[in-house]
Amino acid sequence: MADLRSNFIGIKSPNPFWLASAPPTDKEYNVRRAFQAGWGGVVWKTLGSEGPPVVNVNGPRYGVIHGADRRVLGINNIELITDRPLEVNLREIKSVKRDYPDRALIISLMVPCDEDSWKDILARIEDTGADGVELNFGCPHGMAERGMGSAVGQVPDYIEMVTRWVKKHSRMPCIVKLTPNITDVRKPAEAAKRGGADAVSLINTINSITSVDLDLFAPQPTIDGKGSHGGYCGPAVKPIALNMVAEIARSPETRGIPISGIGGVTTWRDAAEFMALGAGNVQVCTAAMTYGFKVVQEMITGLHDYLDSHDMALSELIGRAVPNVKDWQELNLNYVTKAVIDQDACIGCGRCYAACEDTSHQAIAMNPGRVFEVIEEECVACNLCVDVCPVEDCITMRELELGEIDKRTGIPRGDYANWTSHPNNPMARAAE
Ligand SMILES: Cc1cc2nc3c(=O)[nH]c(=O)nc-3n(C[C@H](O)[C@H](O)[C@H](O)COP(=O)(O)O)c2cc1C
Ligand code: SF4
Ligand code: SF4
Repeated sequence: MADLRSNFIGIKSPNPFWLASAPPTDKEYNVRRAFQAGWGGVVWKTLGSEGPPVVNVNGPRYGVIHGADRRVLGINNIELITDRPLEVNLREIKSVKRDYPDRALIISLMVPCDEDSWKDILARIEDTGADGVELNFGCPHGMAERGMGSAVGQVPDYIEMVTRWVKKHSRMPCIVKLTPNITDVRKPAEAAKRGGADAVSLINTINSITSVDLDLFAPQPTIDGKGSHGGYCGPAVKPIALNMVAEIARSPETRGIPISGIGGVTTWRDAAEFMALGAGNVQVCTAAMTYGFKVVQEMITGLHDYLDSHDMALSELIGRAVPNVKDWQELNLNYVTKAVIDQDACIGCGRCYAACEDTSHQAIAMNPGRVFEVIEEECVACNLCVDVCPVEDCITMRELELGEIDKRTGIPRGDYANWTSHPNNPMARAAE
């Protein structure tokens, strides 16, 4: 059986699945049950400074986007950092860590942007036994208006400055959690690296309004007739998170900085995808909120099976897809495919026809008896028919042999060549 033990920036855990800082990690009762269910680590719900606890709304704090089967695709929340007293959280963290020394326990922090506030909170958490800190520079609502969370995460100079303070006043490993509410995620990651961060984690939630109540004319969740933007997460954000992780993993400026991947991880496969794109481990929130702590068990067995079936160690998975993430201009323009419909599997619904006909290609013919056939002379291989067909694998894409004539262009399929040397490119470099 593949060994799932993880060592992320020196923090050991029995598997690479950590719960992200959020309601499931807000208290001892939860975290103990999470560890019993099998989670390798948790990032405790974000702690703030000493003093009166933050105050949450007392109405609905979540808005949800459902799929057609009412599966939760995305959650929007307007919750703040922990609203429990600091000393209660610290006492509970110490107690849990004492009983679960083999699990990773990271403390997420968010305090005002001045050195003394960071120095004070770091001193308070020193004797909890926690394995590291995560700096919450990501929450996009509530705390951002107070100059914290994403208000810091959107200014690379602030990220660098605070990270330096943390490294100066603490010996703990420091993970900087990044906000996706920014144009180029590499910039804050570079700033975290300059500040001395041991790792970055991403993504925190995305600014969002999930829906509008068309009777109240207010965003949902609605609090006494009004709404405010919240942070979006869950399966819907995974593609955005994967891209951001990959950008950091392959950028020359940030390549090599350890990454904790977050955003829509629901199954072992999601986790493996994050890791293939460079994440050393993953963090999970929405899946645990939706399905409960035991969702980790599918992740553990699934990753075991996958690694075993590929005769691969966990360390060999991490970053394995990074070399294959390229800029568009490096893609092979001589890679030619054509759609093929399996007539035995086809149920004659006509979705492929409607999609192709009305998407400018007109490459599927509807013959008498609702027999659908690809017209290779027109097919640009866009893949849309595959994506809309309700029968899995009914339409596949066939790769042309080298030298085989593309019936659409009349040109034989050639060797690898990309846009940088294409004759239509006015900036074309001479082929090397
Ligand atoms: C209700 C809720 C509360 C959250 N609170 C925090 C928080 O206190 N600190 C933090 O760093 N992230 C917080 N997050 C963000 C999550 O840790 C995570 O980054 C995000 O939800 C994306 O992961 P997911 O798609 O698995 O949910 C919260 C998310 C939700 C849904
Ligand atoms: S791949 Fe695109 S162009 Fe070709 S048949 Fe399908 S939808 Fe039409
Ligand atoms: S979408 Fe799929 S099942 Fe429907 S007609 Fe096209 S090939 Fe057949």
